[in-house]
Amino acid sequence: MKARATIHRDYTIARIDDRLYSAFIEHMGRAIYSGIYEPDHPTANAHGFRQDVLDLVRGLKIPAIRYPGGNFVSAYKWEDGIGPQDERPVRLDLAWRSKETNQVGINEFAHWAKDADIEMMLAVNLGTRGIEEARNFVEYCNHPSGTHWSDLRRSHGVEDPYGVKMWCLGNEMDGPWQIGHMEATEYGRLANETSKAVKAFGGGIETVVCGSSNDQMPTYPNWERQVLEECYENVDYISLHKYFGNSSRNSLNYFAKIEETGRYIQSIAGVIDYVKAKKRAKNDIYICFDEWNVWYHNREQDSKNWHSWDWPEAPALLEEDYNLEDAIFVGGLLNEFIRRSDRVKIACIAQLVNVIAPIRTLKGGPAWATSIYYPYQFASLYGRGTALNVAVDAPRYDAEAAQDVSYLDVAAVLAPDGKSITVFAINRNPDEAMELDLSLHGFNGLTLVEHKVMGGNSADARIANTSEAPDKVLPRDGDKLAIVDGAVKGELPAFSYTMARFSVS
Ligand code: AHR
Repeated sequence: MKARATIHRDYTIARIDDRLYSAFIEHMGRAIYSGIYEPDHPTANAHGFRQDVLDLVRGLKIPAIRYPGGNFVSAYKWEDGIGPQDERPVRLDLAWRSKETNQVGINEFAHWAKDADIEMMLAVNLGTRGIEEARNFVEYCNHPSGTHWSDLRRSHGVEDPYGVKMWCLGNEMDGPWQIGHMEATEYGRLANETSKAVKAFGGGIETVVCGSSNDQMPTYPNWERQVLEECYENVDYISLHKYFGNSSRNSLNYFAKIEETGRYIQSIAGVIDYVKAKKRAKNDIYICFDEWNVWYHNREQDSKNWHSWDWPEAPALLEEDYNLEDAIFVGGLLNEFIRRSDRVKIACIAQLVNVIAPIRTLKGGPAWATSIYYPYQFASLYGRGTALNVAVDAPRYDAEAAQDVSYLDVAAVLAPDGKSITVFAINRNPDEAMELDLSLHGFNGLTLVEHKVMGGNSADARIANTSEAPDKVLPRDGDKLAIVDGAVKGELPAFSYTMARFSVS
């Protein structure tokens, strides 16, 4: 199979917002407890956070993290998580039918995020609570001193305000499963008023209004239209969520779901443009894809677990052993975000530790990187700068999820200093290697500096990194690409992901 691709330095898509490589973590399953926080763990630091997990997190260079939920946030009382830990109430978490001990609250999490060098993006509860709770939470976090909530924070040992800039206005409020679910106009009005209150604190706060829980919801995309008609001028982003799976074990169809996601993004961009025009608005709204990932390996069992009435404390939920195929899929989805970086400014892998996550842990035991850790890491490290258009001429296929899909999935990013270009390329073909001819125009002195490959054989599709064998799926150095007459030529192995970095002058 042969493919040609062409890039020109001047044919740009957009400046990529670094926050495209953000993450999400929820008080759910073992994401927080025995995920990032485990005071009895041998690697725990003085604040009870696992150092081994922190090291893996730092390796991802995550710009921002959404917290504390998720469905959890819709019945959460943030005040339960402040003050002396031994005086905090234990509550029932209605979203995941678990017991929440509140040993980690906003101040512990902020400490962890600072240590991990990640900016916080906080969600307020618009399910069981509302404007009053949101304004108090912002005052506690962001006001310097001299008021009830800011002085309370200082009395809890946090002298300087956090200055949190990004606030999410609830979570998946279109979902009937959500505690406090609302109709679109009802939610749109509440989001509008909450956003105004939150922004009244100053400091350049940005807000994210909830779009649909996914593009299969019966109210999609009317939900987005109705919500935005209520709040367009007062919010900055609209959220998209989507989870993926391959229960039918059809890799090509699985990969085609990335094209389906492109259509999802395009449709919401259309709704944004429609509402902007209708309202004669001057401001622009962008997409915050604040939950995305592969979630299907244990869905049946998980659903049974979170519907039990045992109310366990930090149960193992949604702990996926990701395989090679999932890693290739995640690399492709990140490519799509790069290609749509004109509209998608923030995206959060959901979630970060243990729950559908790139990082897993055993309680009292080791932490390890799942297969999807690596494409996410490569995109986060080298996918910053300017997204370049890639004109692709490659064989195509039809699948149930999308028609006329290219076997070559590629994205290219010019670094902020203009001195290097990174190409992320996937050969989706399970059986055949792809002979690639990639011309790069407008660049001189092209030199290959790093070339990593994952996969190469679809028979390995379901090999995963597990607690027993955490290093089964790893990137390796590639040796099949070379620069010939100023173009990149060579082979993309069948069923593989490639990250290639070039220095340019
Ligand atoms: O990430 C797991 C859950 O998926 C989140 O709590 C919710 O927002 C979504 O449905």
